[in-house]
Amino acid sequence: MAKILFLAASVRKQSLNKRLAKLAANIAEEAGAEITFVDLNDYELPLYNGDLEVEHGLPEAAKQLKKIFIAHDGFFIASPEYNSSFSPLLKNTIDWLSRAHEENEVPLSAYKGKVAAIAAISPGALGGLRGLVSLRMLLGNIGVTVVPSQVAIGSGFKAFNSEEELIDEKQAGMLKATVDELLRTADRLK
Ligand SMILES: Cc1cc2nc3c(=O)[nH]c(=O)nc-3n(C[C@H](O)[C@H](O)[C@H](O)COP(=O)(O)O)c2cc1C
Repeated sequence: MAKILFLAASVRKQSLNKRLAKLAANIAEEAGAEITFVDLNDYELPLYNGDLEVEHGLPEAAKQLKKIFIAHDGFFIASPEYNSSFSPLLKNTIDWLSRAHEENEVPLSAYKGKVAAIAAISPGALGGLRGLVSLRMLLGNIGVTVVPSQVAIGSGFKAFNSEEELIDEKQAGMLKATVDELLRTADRLK
């Protein structure tokens, strides 16, 4: 089975997107996938700055995270929507990991040939759906195949029960279908 990395583009302790990514990871594990969950809080990165890169190279956290991305066949990314786009934390992380730092490194080695599923959860009505449009485009541009199914969950503060499962059956079905599609596609492209 494919190795899938789960992450949320929010470092907030009570992040809804973290909770969604963790739930997706549990679903994938139950389906037999090899999973890793990373909290971006453990990989703090400065805002990308070309001078910083020239002077110091890639930050250690970026090297570690890039290695983790390379070691996986696919990603599940849950990102908050900020003013109709995905979070700046995610953009900054993607930017740092896109930089080659080893001799003869294949460009975009953390991304090319990988598969992703994208998701968002928000207290608002649209569930972060608008941010997924630009995230899907960006990932496609750096060589990631993004599966057609995706998840956007509105009224996020009321979405989970005490077991950290989604209360609404339709939303739970949407998440399961998206995770299943990610696993199937990652297995096929492996
Ligand atoms: C700067 C900023 C902009 C936001 N813009 C949107 C938005 O466009 N759409 C939306 O649904 N929620 C928006 N929100 C609310 C977030 O969806 C909400 O804070 C959410 O809980 C963040 O995700 P997290 O819980 O994973 O940290 C915004 C929040 C912030 C701080």
